Amino acid sequence: MQAAEIGLIGLGVMGSNLALNIAEKGNRIAVFNRTPAATDAFMASAGELADRIVPCYSMAEFVAAIRPPRPIIIMIKAGDPVDQQITALQADLSAGDIIIDAGNANFRDTLARFKRLEGTGLTFIGMGVSGGEEGARHGPSIMVGGTEESWKRVEPVLTSIAARYDGEPCAAWLGNDGAGHFVKTIHNGIEYADMQMIAEIYGILRDGLGKSAADTGAIFANWNKGRLNSYLIEITAAVLAAKDPVTGTAMVDMILDKAGQKGTGKWSVIEAQQMGIPATAIEAAVAARSLSALKSEREAAAKVLGDERQPFVLTGGPGLVDDLELALFAAKIGAYAQGFAVMAEASREFGWNLPMPTIARIWRAGCIIRSQFLDEITKAFTANPDAANLVVTPAFATMLKQALPSLRRVVAAAFTAGLPVPALASALAYFDAYRQARGTANLIQAQRDFFGAHGFDRLDGKDLHHGPWGSGLADFANK
Ligand code: 6PG
Repeated sequence: MQAAEIGLIGLGVMGSNLALNIAEKGNRIAVFNRTPAATDAFMASAGELADRIVPCYSMAEFVAAIRPPRPIIIMIKAGDPVDQQITALQADLSAGDIIIDAGNANFRDTLARFKRLEGTGLTFIGMGVSGGEEGARHGPSIMVGGTEESWKRVEPVLTSIAARYDGEPCAAWLGNDGAGHFVKTIHNGIEYADMQMIAEIYGILRDGLGKSAADTGAIFANWNKGRLNSYLIEITAAVLAAKDPVTGTAMVDMILDKAGQKGTGKWSVIEAQQMGIPATAIEAAVAARSLSALKSEREAAAKVLGDERQPFVLTGGPGLVDDLELALFAAKIGAYAQGFAVMAEASREFGWNLPMPTIARIWRAGCIIRSQFLDEITKAFTANPDAANLVVTPAFATMLKQALPSLRRVVAAAFTAGLPVPALASALAYFDAYRQARGTANLIQAQRDFFGAHGFDRLDGKDLHHGPWGSGLADFANK
């Protein structure tokens, strides 16, 4: 029997869809699942693709079915199960075989797994896969971390199954060891910020302007034809249009306002903080999910504190709907700028040499944050590979200058109206602070020196590095 090009362990929804996608693109694949019944059910669902799928019922049979060096995708629950699976595989694999973790792993676990396999002859790939169930089945975005040699072995299969943008596959090798999972984590951090910003604009339309879900959905559907064109705006319009089959009202109005989170957003913020890179819009989005989860506390606080709602009023600007669109666009630039800045620092710190234009390029299709906007980012980083930040590339500086007044008006109006817009406001504050050539940290330095003799640098380069603290206090008496 002809050997399989690749193997896959874990026939949950994502694993099954990925396996069907691999088979559909003409690749022969061996599959294994811990419970044989799931393998049988999967084969029954595979239809004519079953011809290219080798169902295996033991690890030895599975390994023997794959052409060496064997790439084996494991698509199982992140965490300990992955380590257990690696142990189970190790006994049957041979030198050069490649274990590929395609789950949403913490890249620090991925780094540890690379270390663990050092000296065993086996190698590892940490592979970020985005696009949800649909993406896995019909074309995800694939972010690979590992050795270039192992990438070469899997490149034909992975590029065949990836989404395409203008004919180019959205799959790439991004660097060694944890690079792929790190980039996927930041993708998710940006995803959180994107979603939160959209939700804040929805909140303004719902609570500040009294618009129905259907009317709001129509606005988003319209925006999807312009600069905001993206998967998340498209699904927001679809979500807002949907009716609850039980009550007949808008489905979104029947959903409890408590958001879940599985950890990737939080990891991106933790890593940003570890490296000292501001990712305030992403932080705000993660915190907003945490705050949303405190439903009963919020209900109690609403009773104790009431609200100070005022009408939402925008003055000046191009008109309400256009102002909101531009505000969302400006804030979105902030979230992406921050995400890319975090990746740039991680690239230096972990020696990955992350290719920023390539990352933007493989996010243009397949993944949850896919958009036309990412094509602009691809072009900006291609033209300015050494840019310190996305916002100072000429194209984005121009876009930002055009959209920033709207963000300022919208955030100011939301604050006055008593509507929470933490992610939009964080992006605005980030822009204002980032372009402030002379900030206020001179005072922080003086305070640190005052209470801890931490010292400071002088503007004039002179030698005095500690302040004469207390020396001017007497003058206050005369003021
Ligand atoms: C993707 C998604 C996917 C998943 C996230 C959602 O890129 O396909 O990001 O990975 O939907 O895990 O994360 P939360 O459950 O934390 O929102």
